Amino acid sequence: MTGAELVAYAREAMLNAYAPYSHHPVGAALLSATGDIYLGCNVENAAYGCTCCAERTALFKAISEGEREFSAIAIVGGIDGNTEKPCAPCGVCRQVLREFCDPDAFLILLGYDDGYDEYTLSELLPESFGPDNVRR
Ligand code: THU
Repeated sequence: MTGAELVAYAREAMLNAYAPYSHHPVGAALLSATGDIYLGCNVENAAYGCTCCAERTALFKAISEGEREFSAIAIVGGIDGNTEKPCAPCGVCRQVLREFCDPDAFLILLGYDDGYDEYTLSELLPESFGPDNVRR
């Protein structure tokens, strides 16, 4: 699975976004350690705060199907579906990814029309708080 292929999956996922309020569709494609792909889109709600971002949709789908290890996520989105620029994950999604993903190994690919930018989770969420910081 190349980065460009994962971004292409995220672009497909964006087509299913339910974003009648923000008009900002987002798609995500999450790659598990074993090579499976979980797609997600943002799902908005008339009670705006109930909205779920594309990244969490993909992650929660995967977790609910028994996956626990992930290697990368690609994200594509923009106002009115314009994807000229990268769409960065929100702070909540960064933290939720942190629960399951190795900050230094997990890759976040921000796709746009001409390519994608690649970061580790720790680059986008430095000095993070995770499972090891609490008693289990
Ligand atoms: N959104 C995502 O799906 N992922 C992000 O990381 C950023 C924001 C969605 C939430 C909302 O439906 C719309 O984009 C505008 O905020």
